[in-house]
Amino acid sequence: ERQEVRPYNRQRLLVVANRLPVSAVRRGEDSWSLEISAGGLVSALLGVKEFEARWIGWAGVNVPDEVGQKALSKALAEKRCIPVFLDEEIVHQYYNGYCNNILWPLFHYLGLPQEDRLATTRSFQSQFAAYKKANQMFADVVNEHYEEGDVVWCHDYHLMFLPKCLKEYNSKMKVGWFLHTPFPSSEIHRTLPSRSELLRSVLAADLVGFHTYDYARHFVSACTRILGLEGTPEGVEDQGRLTRVAAFPIGIDSERFIRALEVPEVIQHMKELKERFAGRKVMLGVDRLDMIKGIPQKILAFEKFLEENASWRDKVVLLQIAVPTRTDVPEYQKLTSQVHEIVGRINGRFGTLTAVPIHHLDRSLDFHALCALYAVTDVALVTSLRDGMNLVSYEFVACQEAKKGVLILSEFAGAAQSLGAGAILVNPWNITEVAASIGQALNMPPEEREKRHRHNFHHVKTHTAQEWAETFVSELNDTVIEAQLRISK
Ligand code: G6P
Repeated sequence: ERQEVRPYNRQRLLVVANRLPVSAVRRGEDSWSLEISAGGLVSALLGVKEFEARWIGWAGVNVPDEVGQKALSKALAEKRCIPVFLDEEIVHQYYNGYCNNILWPLFHYLGLPQEDRLATTRSFQSQFAAYKKANQMFADVVNEHYEEGDVVWCHDYHLMFLPKCLKEYNSKMKVGWFLHTPFPSSEIHRTLPSRSELLRSVLAADLVGFHTYDYARHFVSACTRILGLEGTPEGVEDQGRLTRVAAFPIGIDSERFIRALEVPEVIQHMKELKERFAGRKVMLGVDRLDMIKGIPQKILAFEKFLEENASWRDKVVLLQIAVPTRTDVPEYQKLTSQVHEIVGRINGRFGTLTAVPIHHLDRSLDFHALCALYAVTDVALVTSLRDGMNLVSYEFVACQEAKKGVLILSEFAGAAQSLGAGAILVNPWNITEVAASIGQALNMPPEEREKRHRHNFHHVKTHTAQEWAETFVSELNDTVIEAQLRISK
């Protein structure tokens, strides 16, 4: 095999996340095609180019046969990706169960799913066991590919058990862990039966990162209150060993979006969209079809706006792109029917023979179509009930240099801390307030739009995904050096 020549100054980065940046679709016994995966984590990490990065993660499919596994590993290797093969049962218990039915709703303050709360409580232990087993499988693959000096960067709530597994293999491994969701108040975290084990395994990392200072603070207080450890301005201390805890707000590769607006295909798309919605203001929502995104609340607020503002009824349209996600989890299935029901009702109520107020799509758009849509939008609605950061708000701002549209943004999204000064901040649970903010946005004078956009655009341009990753990795390198110095003193 061809020996790889690595530029001497480039450190190798092993990025470990549950989902690889590409998802595999089987085309034949040994042939696969790869598609870009959805979600904020992937869109941010696509902007990280400075390192010799390898990706380790689940390809999103069950591949029970060796022929298929070999062929898929080969196809993924071209994208610098290394698959972790998880069988159906593990995916069911670890991914659908513990990750997405327990940790995800809890970390977003939504509690356990209402209807099957007791069933979920009963399956806690077996699902947690599967979670640990899956994390161990990730650790095995990391360990197999690890070379001395590599930085191992673990991502998200799926892999909270991974830092501990990795340090057990090799205590010298440089391990960072970053959470892309909120970390909830310690009062929420302490309801988890596995609360202590999860905290302890995350603390095995050298550096632990969050999007906002608040999430970092919640994590530290969970460690002090639940584990009785000492919180310091640097992080958490346990018998003289420090785990550094800090905030690293993520960004996007803004230039990629700005450049896309000059591609002829995007310009053509924009032209078509403008013709299609001529005479109407375009409002846009782009979300994974997830309960944390507050899609039903957003649509109800739009209905309220139409109810109270008859003169706007034929002058505004809401385009809602809802990318299906985690479709095997019952809570997500329920959400899909709920959203369809509400959209249907409102379109029946306010639609005419020639136009409907809401266009709802249950699918993702390709990158160019998405950029065109962002660029022609007058008002973007990001109404997450909770959201680690929310990069859709960043993507929208990046595409608005010409139009200077308005961003309505939930105060419960991490992005509210960075784009708050330019956006109209709302409490997404208060549909009267959101309806009023729609009116405010549609009627906003151009000078005010310009001023708000300037603020946000500057932030999105200067706080990139690239910079985020570089800061985290250099902080991780420094943390490890400082720890070595402390030990040798
Ligand atoms: C969020 C999570 C990511 C996840 C993404 C898509 O952004 O923080 O870790 O990859 O959602 O969800 P999925 O379950 O499809 O990977």
